[in-house]
Formats: sequence, structure tokens, C-alpha cells
Amino acid sequence: MYGIERGDGQKGIVMKEFSLHLLDVSENSMTADADLLIIHIKEDYRNNILKIVIKDNGKGMDTDQLKEVTNPFFTTKRSKRVGLGLSLLKETCERCDGKFFVDSVPKKGTEIKAQFPLNHIDLPPLGNMAVTIVALILRNLSVDIVYKHEVDDKIFIMDTREIKRQLGDIPINHPEVIRSVKDQIEKGLIAIGAGKYLDKWRVDYAKANDTGS
Ligand SMILES: Nc1ncnc2c1ncn2[C@@H]1O[C@H](COP(=O)(O)OP(=O)(O)OP(=O)(O)O)[C@@H](O)[C@H]1O
Ligand SMILES: [Mg+2]
Repeated sequence: MYGIERGDGQKGIVMKEFSLHLLDVSENSMTADADLLIIHIKEDYRNNILKIVIKDNGKGMDTDQLKEVTNPFFTTKRSKRVGLGLSLLKETCERCDGKFFVDSVPKKGTEIKAQFPLNHIDLPPLGNMAVTIVALILRNLSVDIVYKHEVDDKIFIMDTREIKRQLGDIPINHPEVIRSVKDQIEKGLIAIGAGKYLDKWRVDYAKANDTGS
């Protein structure tokens, strides 16, 4: 799950794909008893900005917790002494000249925002968002997920509340339903070109810098 080489040649833990950051940060929302999780990714090529927002309606954090939230030694999990999810995302932001914000209100919820220049050389690839969203749906069936992905003016939205309404009595974790949800996300993301330019830019850069050694 974690890489150990950093683009700057230093050793450290680096998350290899954005989807893994999203999985990790969304896990916090589930632990915080949220029943609605909103994931919004915007690839804005006109302004060279990649924006990622993860918002929940969970128990939130008070100001003292909020101050410590990106400290790797801060965790409210009883089973461990380090909390790496948010500190890793913040580290990715710092490595990519990005910005990182956490906003939280006790009993209302939490919003994590990360923003990057789209053409930064160290930007991780998007990763497999269809598998990530399906994993989140299956992780806790009572948490509804809205996944919105924009590429300039094109938009893809998946809302499990809508899917559940259409399904009626059929559970969302029925294997055929899950397969169909995954297919729909994959097709929807291809249709808007999600991650395409992001990954293409990296491949082109790698080729241009391949010395053949
Ligand atoms: N969405 C959230 N709602 C409420 N509290 C949160 C949320 N996200 C993070 N926190 C608080 O911040 C702490 C640190 O989060 P972080 O993801 O960095 O580490 P962790 O979840 O404790 O451990 P790890 O992610 O390594 O399994 C959490 O233990 C929790 O107290
Ligand atoms: Mg965490």
C-alpha cells in the first residue's frame, strides 16, 4: 500500500495513488459515525488545479483535536499510537506545492480539502477510483456515498442514496449490483476522461526523461 521511495530521493512513506489517500481519509469518516460521505474531485486543466474534497457528517472534532490532526502521533484510535492518514495526505500536498485544509465542527462533521497544481511532477496518479468507491460502499452499508468527479466542464456523479432508491428491496451489496455500480463508475469516468490527462502527463514526462539506463 505504501511506497518507500520519494520523488525527491529522500526516504519516507509515500502514498502511491490518490485513491489510496481517499480510502484512508474516508475511513476516518466512517470511524466518526458519519452516514453521509461526499467525495469531490475536480481536475481543472484551464487553471492547472486538482482539487480533492472529502466531507462527512460525522462527529467532527473540537479545536484542540483539530490543531493536532496532522500530527502523525495524534490518534484517537485505542489500538495504535500513530495516526497517519491525514499526515500522509498533508505530506503529499507539501511535496507537490499544494494546499491542505481541515475544517471540522463538533457534532456536525468534517471537511478535508487538498489542492494541487495539476502538472506537478510528484503528483500521484489517480489510481482505481471505481474499486475504491466500491470498497467504501461495502465497508459500511449504512453510510451513503456521493462521488462527484469533474474534468473541466464534464461531470460524473454517483449517489448511493439514488441507487438504493432505484433498487428498492435489493441490497446494494448484492454481487450483481456491485458489479454494475463498478462498471458504471468505470464507464462514467472514462466518458469524462477522469485521470486521463493527469496520468498521460506523467507518462509523457517519464518518457521524455528516460535515459535508457
Ligand atoms: N473525519 C473525521 N471526523 C472526526 N475525527 C477525525 C476525522 N478525521 C480524522 N479525525 C481524527 O484525527 C485523528 C487522526 O486521523 P488520521 O487519519 O491521521 O489517523 P488515524 O485515523 O488515527 O490512524 P490511521 O489513519 O493511521 O489508521 C483520528 O484518530 C481522529 O481522532
Ligand atoms: Mg485515519
